Amino acid sequence: MKTPRIYLDHNATTPLRPEVLGVMQRYLAEAFGNPSSLHTFGQEARAGLEEARTRLASGLGCAPGEVHFTSGGTEADNWALLGCAAARGQGRIVTTAIEHHAVLHSCRHLQKQGFEVCLVRPDPRGWVDPEAVEALLDDRTILVSAMHANNETGVLQPVAQIGQLTRRRGIPFHVDAVQSFGKVPVQVDQLGADLVAVSAHKLNGPKGVGALYARGGTRLEPWIHGGGHEGGLRAGTENVAGIAAFGLAAQLALAEQSAHQRELGRLRDRLEVGILGALGGVQVNGQGAPRLPNTLNLSIAGVQSEALLLGLDLEGVAVSSGSACSAGGEEPSHVLLAMGLERRLAAGSLRFSLGWGNSEVEVDRVIALLPGLVRRLRALSA
Ligand SMILES: Cc1ncc(COP(=O)(O)O)c(C=O)c1O
Repeated sequence: MKTPRIYLDHNATTPLRPEVLGVMQRYLAEAFGNPSSLHTFGQEARAGLEEARTRLASGLGCAPGEVHFTSGGTEADNWALLGCAAARGQGRIVTTAIEHHAVLHSCRHLQKQGFEVCLVRPDPRGWVDPEAVEALLDDRTILVSAMHANNETGVLQPVAQIGQLTRRRGIPFHVDAVQSFGKVPVQVDQLGADLVAVSAHKLNGPKGVGALYARGGTRLEPWIHGGGHEGGLRAGTENVAGIAAFGLAAQLALAEQSAHQRELGRLRDRLEVGILGALGGVQVNGQGAPRLPNTLNLSIAGVQSEALLLGLDLEGVAVSSGSACSAGGEEPSHVLLAMGLERRLAAGSLRFSLGWGNSEVEVDRVIALLPGLVRRLRALSA
């Protein structure tokens, strides 16, 4: 009998839940109208769209009219940064060196247009000190952008404290909550956020759907020009099936959040203790900092993460070497390098991210498999 495959890469993407697939099918096949149409077909689609907006708003603690659907987290991050910068024309943007490329490359683009970009480095645990952010805030600062949870290490950043600093100075604050939404509470007022990016495929919804929360009154340029969709800010006939699925996926994730994440935390800790107990020369990246319950990032001395990833894949176990977007590239993770890891160690890091459907049996299989694989690879490179 073939051994079942084990998926431990939920920070890259997650499987679609059956209930969520059911909603998608309904809006693709039956309620397929254009939500802008006045007839019943259109109104059915409109109802699905607005129900999803209400569900997202209730999850984020905001008004439905402050939720704007996008094609994903990347677009929401781009819109927040470019839209906010365009509304101001010039000035300083403060962000961190460990952001996702959706934020960092948007900043690089804005830098070319003449904006000043300041990157705050994290401490060796991958945690950004709010005081280091505060030191860069001045009266030219037009935007601060910080992620809530790092996608590679899972380290939770002190966004609520950063939000207090920006509030006091009246500086708009963008939070990339793509990895945290559905895993830990994301309440816009508690974070002091004016802009928040979220994505469906990280919480068992479909790929290609996300949202940008924009606090009422935030100066933000329209993003896509055309019809009056999404409050006249992002034109284009909406991806109704994807959006309705996002609404349900978010609602389910939030309803189950505390019990589910507690269980994932237990499994992650079991994996961590099991691997550290069986293998020397391993360090946990992000150790000592608050972390997402589902994420374990390890640097394993004397191996290349790609070789390890492929070795595990041959055994049916899917993990990631750093972020999915940079995997396959030659460069070690910018996040681990910013934390001060030696290149050699950063090049031997693996990310395990647990999620819906993972079990203790799966974790134990990985604990049993990994040490032998590492020893073989170390022997080869010695
Ligand atoms: C922190 C973070 N921001 C943004 C994104 C981009 O989201 P999407 O894949 O929906 O474009 C990701 C995806 O990996 C992420 O982890």
